[in-house]
Amino acid sequence: MKKILIFSSLVVTVILFLLVNSKLSYYSPSGYLHKDLSEQMDALAIFQGAIGEEIKRGKPENSLWLVDGLDSVLLLITERLNHHKNLIKPFDHYYETKMKEPVNMLRRAILNNDTAASHTAYKLLVKKCNSCHNLHEVEERAHY
Ligand code: HEC
Repeated sequence: MKKILIFSSLVVTVILFLLVNSKLSYYSPSGYLHKDLSEQMDALAIFQGAIGEEIKRGKPENSLWLVDGLDSVLLLITERLNHHKNLIKPFDHYYETKMKEPVNMLRRAILNNDTAASHTAYKLLVKKCNSCHNLHEVEERAHY
């Protein structure tokens, strides 16, 4: 019961994030740009945590939409914050070299209903988040 509550509140949070994102970009593209990198990172962390919960519950198939959500935030950063003052190289460089592979591995593993491979891909994803943080001397850690 408690797990269900925690999960539902996560889902609600994710939906709110998406709504706020789409509303802002719909009404005012320039307003949208005020959403900075750290706020997009918070969205990434919510998706990443929720994906982890599903995988740990042995239900990776429930997290496909969350993986798509995480990927869409990554692509959004590439589109809108590619050249950011807190990034050494443009974000698309890190998307290509770090994030793309684990995200696609995870998507494939989920589609194949392969729990073990989902675990492996998820772990790799978390490692890549943290490797980029190390590179940028960001203390925040994504947790497996
Ligand atoms: C391109 C390198 C890069 C990648 C990849 C990356 N991050 Fe970050 N992350 C950063 C940087 C840089 C900051 C500091 C942002 C700032 O303060 O402007 C940050 C900050 C954060 C924060 C703190 C945000 C805050 O409120 O201060 C969280 C949480 C976070 N990242 C989660 C993640 C997760 C989860 C992933 C993987 C799905 C990820 N990040 C992938 C570079 C990256």
